[in-house]
Amino acid sequence: MYIGIDVGTSGVKALAVDYQGTVLAEHSVSYELSAPREGWAEQNPRDWLDAAVSCIAKLTETEKCAGISFSGQMHGLVLLDDEAVVLRPAIIWCDQRTSKEAAELTELIGAERLAEITGSQAMTGFTAAKILWVKNNEPEIWAKTRHILLPKDYVRLMLTGIVSTEPSDAAGTQLFDINSLDWSDEILEKLGIPRKLLPEIMRSNAETGRYGDIRVFSGGADNACGAIGVGVTKPGSAMLSIGTSGVILAPVDRAVTDPRGRIHTLCSALPGQRMLMSCTQSAALSVKWFTELCGDIDYDDIPDSTNVVFLPYLNGERSPHPDPNAKGVFFGLTANTTRGEMLRAVYEGVAFSQRECLDVFRELGVEITSLTATGGGAKNRKWLQIFADILGAAIEAPELDQGAAYGAALLAIDNGQLIIDNERTVYVPDSTADYTRKYELYKELYVKLKTTFERLG
Ligand code: XUL
Repeated sequence: MYIGIDVGTSGVKALAVDYQGTVLAEHSVSYELSAPREGWAEQNPRDWLDAAVSCIAKLTETEKCAGISFSGQMHGLVLLDDEAVVLRPAIIWCDQRTSKEAAELTELIGAERLAEITGSQAMTGFTAAKILWVKNNEPEIWAKTRHILLPKDYVRLMLTGIVSTEPSDAAGTQLFDINSLDWSDEILEKLGIPRKLLPEIMRSNAETGRYGDIRVFSGGADNACGAIGVGVTKPGSAMLSIGTSGVILAPVDRAVTDPRGRIHTLCSALPGQRMLMSCTQSAALSVKWFTELCGDIDYDDIPDSTNVVFLPYLNGERSPHPDPNAKGVFFGLTANTTRGEMLRAVYEGVAFSQRECLDVFRELGVEITSLTATGGGAKNRKWLQIFADILGAAIEAPELDQGAAYGAALLAIDNGQLIIDNERTVYVPDSTADYTRKYELYKELYVKLKTTFERLG
C-alpha cells in the first residue's frame, strides 16, 4: 500500500491506498491555527510533522507501506536556519498581513510582468509577499534564514533529509516562472532573495528520498492533488472544491493567463501541465463560522429563497477581487429575517463568489464541459443544488471523495493516471430558479463597498 498525506489547515489527513486505488484505512490528527492579530494566520510546522508521523505510525501498524506521497496547503512560508530549525511560526495561505508588501512587489516587478512570469497579480496570501514582510519586519529572522520551504516540503525534509519542492507548490510562491518551470531569477534579484535559500525543483511524482525503507515522493499542492483525486486531469474537466476555501481549477493545454491577474495560472501536479485556478478565501469556512455562531439549522428551516445577500469575505478575498480589506457582510436584514434565511444567504454568497470566478474562466475562453465537486461542502445536497443554479452548470458529485490525500497517493502509485470507477450524482440547474437579479446585486455590493472596506481597515 501507499500512504497519501495531506498537510491541511485544520489537520493532517492520511490515507492508506492499495495499487488499484482502493482506500484501505485512514487516520487524521488535527492541530491549531493561531491568529495573533486580526488578519494573521500562523501554524507551528512541528505540529504538521508530529501529526504526519503519528498518522504514518498508525497506518503502518498492520500493513507494510511501499511509498509515501504528500499534498499540502499552498502558499505557506516556513523559514529554517542552517540546522533546519524553524525560525518563526509558519505564515499560512489565509494570512492577510502583507498589503504593503504586495504593493511593493507590484512596484518592483510591474503588474503586467508579474502576471506574465507568475500567472497572478501580487497576492497578499502568496509566499513572496510574506518573505518581504519578514525582511521588513523581522530582519533578525531573515538574517538567520537558510531555507525557505512550503508546508508539505518541510514535513518531507524532516522525514528524508532532502530539501526539495515541485512545480505545483512552487508556482504558488510567486517566485516561480510558470513558463520556464524554474525559479525566476528576475524576481529573486529584484526582491533580494538568494536562489540558494530555495529548494531544488523535482517532478511531483519523483521519488525524493526514503523514510526508513519507505520510498518518499514529492507530491503536490493540495488543490492539484485534489483534482487528481476526483479524476480532473484533462482540459475540459474542472474541479469545484468546497473546502475551507473554495476553488475552481481547470487543467489547460495552452498557456492562458488572465492579464488582469484575477485568477491564477499555476502548474498542475502532472508533468508540464498548467492549470487555471480561482480561490474564494472563505467557502465552507463561512458556513462553519455561521453555524458555530448561531447553532445548527435543520434543512427544513432553510427557505427556498431569501432577499438577504451575504458577501463571504470573512478572510478578505482573493478571486476575482484580491482585497485583504474586504469583510463579510449580511445585506437586507429585516425584523422578520430568520436564521434559516441567513444560512441560505451564506450558501448563496459563496456560490455567487464562485460564479464571479467562473465568469473569468469563461471570459478567458477556457472551455469547461464538466464540473466535479469535492470537499466538505460537496456532501451538502442543498448547497450543491444552489451551486448548480447559480453557476448555471451541472455539478457532478462523486461518491468516492477522499480529497487531496487520495490524489497524493495516486500520484505515487501511477503518476495520477489510474482511472478509478466512481459513481456520480449530477445536480442540474433548476430552470425555475432565477438568480439573475440577485447576482447583479451581489456584484454591485462589492463595488460599492470597496472603499468603505478600506476605511474600516
Ligand atoms: C489556494 C489556497 C487554498 C489552500 C488551502 O490558492 O490558498 O486553497 O491551498 O489549503
